[in-house]
Amino acid sequence: MDFGAVREHYTTEDVVSRILAALRSVNGPGVPILPDTLAPIDHFHGKGVIATEELAAMLQPQANDHLLDIGCGIGGPARWMAAKFGCRVTGVDLTESFCAAARELNSLTGLADRVNILHGSALALPVPDAGFDRAYSQAVLMNISDKLGFLREALRALRPGGLLALSFVGAGPAGEPYYPLPWAVTAATSFLVTPDEIRADLLTAGFQIVTLRDTSEEVAAALAPVLRQLETDGLPPLGEHVVTGENAKEWRINSMRSLRDRHTSMIEALAHKPA
Ligand SMILES: C[S@@+](CC[C@H](N)C(=O)[O-])C[C@H]1O[C@@H](n2cnc3c(N)ncnc32)[C@H](O)[C@@H]1O
Repeated sequence: MDFGAVREHYTTEDVVSRILAALRSVNGPGVPILPDTLAPIDHFHGKGVIATEELAAMLQPQANDHLLDIGCGIGGPARWMAAKFGCRVTGVDLTESFCAAARELNSLTGLADRVNILHGSALALPVPDAGFDRAYSQAVLMNISDKLGFLREALRALRPGGLLALSFVGAGPAGEPYYPLPWAVTAATSFLVTPDEIRADLLTAGFQIVTLRDTSEEVAAALAPVLRQLETDGLPPLGEHVVTGENAKEWRINSMRSLRDRHTSMIEALAHKPA
């Protein structure tokens, strides 16, 4: 599959200088550049760092683990995992400008020795077979039509007994979402599936499922005050829009309204590669 349109959607320049300027204007010129201070900006999914914490609670990384982050964005979740659990993380992402920003932020946060960023596609991961103890992917599967290919690559990268945690936007019962959205401005690059469809793909790929949940109701409830605030006050001073631009307001409102109205769903899954 040609991911040109997906890459183009995410590509943006001067990411790190914009992040540093925003952080300093809100927190003062001496703000330390750490995973926690970057967190309002560098976790690119609806619930931000809270969603990363929830994913980590499912995955339970250990200090001697090597984790794989598939579609790592600018590396917020990868740095957060490395800082909180003391593990090593390799992130892979399609978008070169995001990979460059992730590497720069790894250096600025002092985590470059434990967080490694590789440019590449989730459908042809530039990593060896069975090299990882655990893998995760947050807010990426919406851009990938070949979910079975994605899951087969994740299975290949994991050691026997290794775990995969997924969190992503799925299809909703009420029909098509409201576009434009944070991951796709039109339906051409948005590929949403139901929990049953991802369950079937996980099993076909060779995973054993530990948990698979539709978390739409709880995520919609958590995002309701965020949606109200965006609709009335607009964008807060810090957020993923520092990277993605002012369109993020419309994209985020559409995303939250789509979930509220069940035009999308939220899916999380934990699966393991048989030992
Ligand atoms: C919404 S962002 C989420 C980034 C990160 N997972 C996070 O939660 O902060 C989606 C990311 O998936 C990446 N992506 C989309 N399709 C991909 C593919 N086929 N292979 C690797 N990365 C991909 C994009 O470049 C983008 O960085």
